[in-house]
Amino acid sequence: MKITVIGTGYVGLPTGVGLAELGNDVICLDIDESKINKLKNGELTIFEEGLDSLFEKHTQSGKVSFSTSFAESIPNADLVILAVGTPPHPITKEADMKYIKSAAESLAKHLNQYTVIAIKSTVPVNTGDAVENIIRRTNPTADFDVISLPEFLREGFAVQDFFNPDRIIVGANSKRAKNLIADLYLPFKDRCPILYVSRKSSETIKYASNAFLAMKIQYINEMADFCETSGADIYEVAKGMGLDSRIGAKFLVPGPGYGGFCFPKDTNAMAYMGKFNGIDLSLIETTIKSNERRKINMAKRILDMVSDIKNPTIAVLGSAFKGGTDDCRESPALQIIEIMLAHDVNIKLYDPEAMPNTKAILKDMITYCDSAYEAIGGADVLAILTDWQEFKSLDLEKIKVLMSRPQIADFRNMIDYELASQLGFEVKSIGRKI
Ligand code: UDX
Repeated sequence: MKITVIGTGYVGLPTGVGLAELGNDVICLDIDESKINKLKNGELTIFEEGLDSLFEKHTQSGKVSFSTSFAESIPNADLVILAVGTPPHPITKEADMKYIKSAAESLAKHLNQYTVIAIKSTVPVNTGDAVENIIRRTNPTADFDVISLPEFLREGFAVQDFFNPDRIIVGANSKRAKNLIADLYLPFKDRCPILYVSRKSSETIKYASNAFLAMKIQYINEMADFCETSGADIYEVAKGMGLDSRIGAKFLVPGPGYGGFCFPKDTNAMAYMGKFNGIDLSLIETTIKSNERRKINMAKRILDMVSDIKNPTIAVLGSAFKGGTDDCRESPALQIIEIMLAHDVNIKLYDPEAMPNTKAILKDMITYCDSAYEAIGGADVLAILTDWQEFKSLDLEKIKVLMSRPQIADFRNMIDYELASQLGFEVKSIGRKI
């Protein structure tokens, strides 16, 4: 199948390369010329586990190519996938549809055979109708169907998730479009459920799923707070809860709050849609507020550990919103750093992948280090804010020697806290009393 993917971000690029691996001919289209030039030169523009080898394989085989031209990429496509950003409006937080609208207008002009336009970006309910109207208005004779094909890839696991989805949701109102998608996903036929629903249901499934997962995380975070006062251990509690198949074991890991480009954006957009439609979505609104409060509370916990020191040095490990990605968008780690910077503190940071993205945001407000141990040297407290696997194997004895004061705020529960306590560290972890 000939496929054009519009948007080469965290969704578009892994999707395009994954579809090429399934045997399709893919053009990745983006209006950002510098990105496309880099990709054409064989340079990946995002960090995603396992993407580099597939990217190299298919750029060399010619199954994936890159373009900034709609005229070149649309006319021969059987399927056009919209994977452009829908960033939150700065004030209302509703999803901003300007990129979707302009991509729809640009592609419409070049449709000259039956084409399915699949919306993969997370978009408000009824966007399928709006895109259909734009295309119809721009090119009244075009032969096309607009469907919703929501994306559930997690950053850091995008390649793994692409080939092993829990389910594929297809929101299509036309039989012709359903048949084309059935052909596309033939390799997944016996691997996962493929659910065909109406376009509006499909658009809603994406938001409803993300809001539910965000709520589940905040729920376990609140239970973690409860455990700290009751003396229970959140890991034992989460395990016991997760064994109930109605609850499920996943997404019960406590931490400093949820972040990333999806959960904060999608919960806010859902809350906005609730208000707009006069619906009480108070569970979602409470989840958003609880997540905001959590980051303030996390920053306060660290600051309390050094409240007796004038101008303390805080070593921070991790600025990405979770391990396995260089993405800092809506990162709880970054927000906690920003809250702490309002106080008289020095921050030394190390993150294995997210340093360039962090520098672009925090500039010279903190000190950037080349290793975890460099960041820890001379620190009065060590704060672990992102769950990078390498932080699990930190040498605690070495850290004890390097630090000015042996204090650790481990908000991802990465270190062996019993060993740390034995070594004389004061440890603040999440969801267990020490
Ligand atoms: C999410 C959805 O999982 C994915 O289906 C959708 O397509 C995009 O949004 P992603 O943003 O990549 O994916 O990250 P995810 O792994 O879901 O984590 C989101 C945030 O929640 C991170 O900050 C993470 O650290 C936090 N989290 C996740 C927890 O604190 N505890 C958990 O148990 C799970």
